[in-house]
Amino acid sequence: MELKSLTYTSWAAPGMTSEQLSAILSSARTNNPLDGISGLLIFNGVAFMQVLEGAGSAIDDLAGRLVADTRHSNMSIRDERPIDRRSFPDWAMAYLELEAGEFIGDAEVERALRRDLPDSLRNVMLGLVHNLSPH
Ligand SMILES: Cc1cc2nc3c(=O)[nH]c(=O)nc-3n(C[C@H](O)[C@H](O)[C@H](O)COP(=O)(O)O)c2cc1C
Repeated sequence: MELKSLTYTSWAAPGMTSEQLSAILSSARTNNPLDGISGLLIFNGVAFMQVLEGAGSAIDDLAGRLVADTRHSNMSIRDERPIDRRSFPDWAMAYLELEAGEFIGDAEVERALRRDLPDSLRNVMLGLVHNLSPH
């Protein structure tokens, strides 16, 4: 099976509530195991960053649903690459909430990322967290 990973950022719909966030995570954690998808979702109060990994067709199907989801907008694909193995094999969707307004992301994101994550992908993600964090 051809595996790929896709990393995107998006703006959360204004006024995103914890109930909406729970519903998003619940969909992910129900659907993703059935679709063979694993990954990580980061939310910093205003923006999302999500890494999805799985079969190319499964990722493309999910990306199609995501584009149409009004709980976020301006979905922008930041990285897409074939992978040999998963970086988040144990997670239907790992979740990390960063505090908006405080620049605290790096250490937490570093901890959430697996040690064997390819450096190139790690650097993409850390760079994105910098961009997502309010300055
Ligand atoms: C930021 C964000 C991340 C999401 N991540 C996933 C995901 O990983 N898997 C998934 O199936 N749906 C995810 N969704 C929800 C999908 O857009 C869509 O609503 C859902 O897949 C529809 O299936 P459901 O009716 O079973 O909830 C996400 C939505 C948002 C806004």
